[in-house]
Formats: sequence, structure tokens, C-alpha cells
Amino acid sequence: MSYNKKTVKDVDVKGKKVLLRCDFNVPMAKDGSGVITDDKRIRAALPTIQYLLEQGAAVIACSHMGKPEPSFEKFVKKGTEKGKDPAKLTEEAWKKSLADLTLAPVANRLGELLGMDIIMAKDVVGEDAQAKAAALQPGQILLLENTRFEKGEKKNDPEFTKALASMADVYVSDAFGAVHRCHASTAGVADYLPAVSGFLIQKELDFIGGALANPKRPLVAILGGSKVSSKIGVINNLLEIADTIIIGGGMAYTFSAAQGGKIGNSLFEADWQEYALEMIKKAADKGVKLLLPVDTVCGDKFGPDANTLTVTAGQIPDGWEGMDIGPKTVELYCNAVKDAGTVIWNGPMGVFEFPAFAAGTEAVAEALSKTEAITIIGGGDSAAAVQQLGYADKMTHISTGGGASLEFMEGKDLPGVSCLLDA
Ligand code: 3PG
Repeated sequence: MSYNKKTVKDVDVKGKKVLLRCDFNVPMAKDGSGVITDDKRIRAALPTIQYLLEQGAAVIACSHMGKPEPSFEKFVKKGTEKGKDPAKLTEEAWKKSLADLTLAPVANRLGELLGMDIIMAKDVVGEDAQAKAAALQPGQILLLENTRFEKGEKKNDPEFTKALASMADVYVSDAFGAVHRCHASTAGVADYLPAVSGFLIQKELDFIGGALANPKRPLVAILGGSKVSSKIGVINNLLEIADTIIIGGGMAYTFSAAQGGKIGNSLFEADWQEYALEMIKKAADKGVKLLLPVDTVCGDKFGPDANTLTVTAGQIPDGWEGMDIGPKTVELYCNAVKDAGTVIWNGPMGVFEFPAFAAGTEAVAEALSKTEAITIIGGGDSAAAVQQLGYADKMTHISTGGGASLEFMEGKDLPGVSCLLDA
């Protein structure tokens, strides 16, 4: 896949209507108050928005938010499958579930950050959006409603895609967090409009793509998170590229069990043991250093108030579960990071949400903050950990994409990037 794509600087947008796909899928307070708890993704879109406005474009911004169910029948079907009380699966409940995922709070926050009014559409391609888009003037921003309120969005349905594209003259994608989705607003519209990337996508492609294609060596990849199965693609791809691969988090226990270790109640994927052994062999054959935990901090239950016990890896007693890497592993991993040229980190080392099991993740974050290496943090949990632990401004790049950065590191094609015009 070519990452050499035309950017917003390669098109003349003066006096044009620009459909700008952002990833405004931001976390919201659970109490339904509409408070955005982290506006990083909105801030990350500002450079492109400001540039488009300065160039005299009228900006029609769009995004998805969460996973709404656009059909009432499916809302009932899925709710029933999940064992929800049928009496609660009413039309009113469905409408509330959609209302909770409105982009109105995003319009407010965006307006605050830009110091201007944002025009909010009541729908995505309906009468209100069409009328407001038609009346939109250069220098103004219209935000469409949640694209996933429309059935055609995830299906990349041609009718919906055409309706969306018909409102604009140019398509700019800056939704890095959603480039792994082949949906109408992330890829489909590029069939109908000249399509280029915004500054955020460029930045993500430069940093992550650069680290994968032409890394300053040694390249050290730190992979954590709970499941081997969700990281197979990344491990496979990085075995071809990295000099050292460090394994932490819940997936380390499947590696341990595969080597005959005792793992107590730790997370474990029996079906992936053979694969884990293959990876260990493949790394040895390729001369890639594969580091696994040498000790483990265990808890006697999964909770913040669990009793803790530190043991040698592979010697977790019955009734205990591994919840963090131990101090000897921390030393081993931090040493590996010290002389790296590039470090890519995806997935925490333990259950960092519980202070008793945050030390491993924190030590790795601290080591990354001190190294001279280029440090790239995959989105999702690792980005949240770095932020929560206060090291965010010490990293070279923190990706705004969770699934997207993972698929990028797997070497997969990203539909939201490949649909853009080649430079
Ligand atoms: C994300 O949060 O990773 C992106 O916004 C994509 O969201 P999705 O997983 O619901 O497609």
C-alpha cells in the first residue's frame, strides 16, 4: 500500500465545499450529561480545519460516534440476543440510545476550541443537512449528525454515499482513527469526489509508517494487552521488521503456559499456545530478540483491593492470577529500551487501572520518556496509560487511532488511506 497520498495542500479549496471526515468518536461521561472526558481527537483535527477555513473553504465536517443501531428491529434483536429485558427494548429506549450518541456536544467543544459558532445539522443527508450545506458560506463549519445514524454508512451503500458526496466539491479525510473501516464516509465518498488527506492522517502515516518502513535502529516493539489472538497480526509483521520484541500484559501467560509454566488463574488462550511456541522459534530463527517476563506480580482476585504476591514467571500458585510484570522484568525491559533507536509500544504491561498493578506499565512509560529513541505509542489502552500516568508530552508521537494503528502495524491495507489520490 502506498502512503504517498495527495494532501489538502495539493487541492484548491477556495470557495469550495469540503466534506471533512474526522474521527470525533470521543469518550463521553457515562451519566448522559454530554460531557466529553477527553477531547484529544477534536484538538487533533484543528490544524486541518483551520487551514481549510484560512483557504476560504466552507467545511462540512462529519464523523461517527460510538456504535448506534440505526434500525429499531435490529436494536430489539441484538438486545434480545444479549439477554436484555424485552420490556426495556422499546422504541423510546432505542431513540434514547441514538440521542445519547448525538454529535451535538462535539459541535459545542469544537466551537469553543475554534472560538466560532458551529452549525449543527439535525441529520446526516436529510433535508436539514442538505439545506444547511447548500446555504453554507466560505469560512463556516457545518457538522453533520453521527454518520452511523444512517444504515448506509457501515454498509458503504452507494445511495447514501452519493447523497453524502453530493453536498461537497472535495473530500478531505483526517479521520485516522477510522481509516481501517471501509464505510461510506471513510472510503466510499472517494469514488465520487477528489479525495485527499488532512494533516492528522499525514502525521500518523509519517510517524507510524516511517517507524515501520525505515526505522532508526535498533527497533524495539513492546506489545502488551490481554490477548495473543488480537496481536497475532502485529507480532507476525513486527517479526519481519523489529530487532527486539518485548511481550507483556495478559498475553504473556499464554506464552508461559505454552512453555510448561504454571499460570494459576491468569488470562490464557489454550488455542494459541502452539502459535506462541511458533513465534518463539521464528524469532530465534530470524535473530529477533524476543523478551518474555521473568517475574510476575499476582493478585488473589481481579480487583483493586487484591492481595499481591511477586513470583518467578511460570510459577504462579493456584488461586492467583498474573496482573503485572515483576521488578526483574521491569529492569530487563527498561534496559532494552535504553539504547533503542525507535520504540513502538502497543498494549499495557498489566492491569494499570489498579494502582497495585500499574508499576510495570508506569516503569515502561517512564523508560520511554527518558530514552533518546523515537517513541511511538499506539492508540487505545497504551495511549490512555501514557496519558493517565502523565508521560504524554514526553513521547514523540501518540496515535489517535486504536484499531487503526493496530491494523497499520499489522501491515494491513487501510481502506480510508488507499481510497485517497496518489501524490
Ligand atoms: C476508534 O475509536 O477506534 C475509532 O473511532 C473507530 O471506532 P469503531 O471501532 O467503532 O469503528
